[in-house]
Amino acid sequence: MNGDSHIVVDVRAVEKSFGEGQNRIHVLKHVNLEARTGEILMLVGPSGCGKTTLLSAIAGTLKIDGGEVNVFGQPLHDMSGGALTRFRAKHIGFIFQQFNLIPTLSIAENVSVPLLIQGVSNGTAIKKARAALESVGLGNRWKERPNKLSGGQQQRVAIARALVHEPPLVICDEPTAALDAQNGEIVLDLFRGVARSPDRAVIIVTHDNRIFSYADRIAKMDDGEIIEVHEQSQDVKPHFEHEAAH
Ligand SMILES: Nc1ncnc2c1ncn2[C@@H]1O[C@H](COP(=O)(O)OP(=O)(O)O)[C@@H](O)[C@H]1O
Ligand SMILES: [Mg+2]
Repeated sequence: MNGDSHIVVDVRAVEKSFGEGQNRIHVLKHVNLEARTGEILMLVGPSGCGKTTLLSAIAGTLKIDGGEVNVFGQPLHDMSGGALTRFRAKHIGFIFQQFNLIPTLSIAENVSVPLLIQGVSNGTAIKKARAALESVGLGNRWKERPNKLSGGQQQRVAIARALVHEPPLVICDEPTAALDAQNGEIVLDLFRGVARSPDRAVIIVTHDNRIFSYADRIAKMDDGEIIEVHEQSQDVKPHFEHEAAH
């Protein structure tokens, strides 16, 4: 990582519970975490430990009970309505665990949505969407509806949609779960390109150990807490493991 790296996501003492009374569960327990420009930060931990909840807090889609979430210096915990929506649309590309594609639109139209929200003209948006689909190996499928595609292909459409407007922060929840090694490598190389371009960062929730070598830092989460963060050397170009390690 170069010396210009600075903190772009600053999570401070974040608390979140769901439910009421006896059913109340404390899902985020005083979480502190930061993400810096130039890096791929991976968040790992057992199912149910709070990873998706934490990502939603960072993406500004979840209202937290306490603490602070600052993204590019903006206090998301204090923002709401149009200001929050506009901020998110411009700064954050989010790849959801379920791909959230719109079934009635072609995949190029799906990918063009973040551009249209920002006022890009229809023609330009579709052109950029097709280029983004090209970058994930789906350039020739642009006219098709999502349901004509496999799970892995739909996942790549969701990735193209999260990257098309070049948001400075890209957040992904299990982005490679449905991908084979070849497509996984394409996608991780894209994320690495994002992380290495100026003033951008990537946060990935994963339990896919085939991709760990791409992480600049790995944060381990357990039972609502970050229990360990470690830095990884990136002297050797990372690679997608074809066999899952044990
Ligand atoms: N909207 C919600 N309402 C109630 N409980 C929730 C909600 N979202 C998540 N949870 C609970 O919070 C815990 C953490 O969930 P999640 O953040 O999805 O974990 P992970 O992504 O690490 O598997 C789980 O027990 C889950 O059932
Ligand atoms: Mg999850």
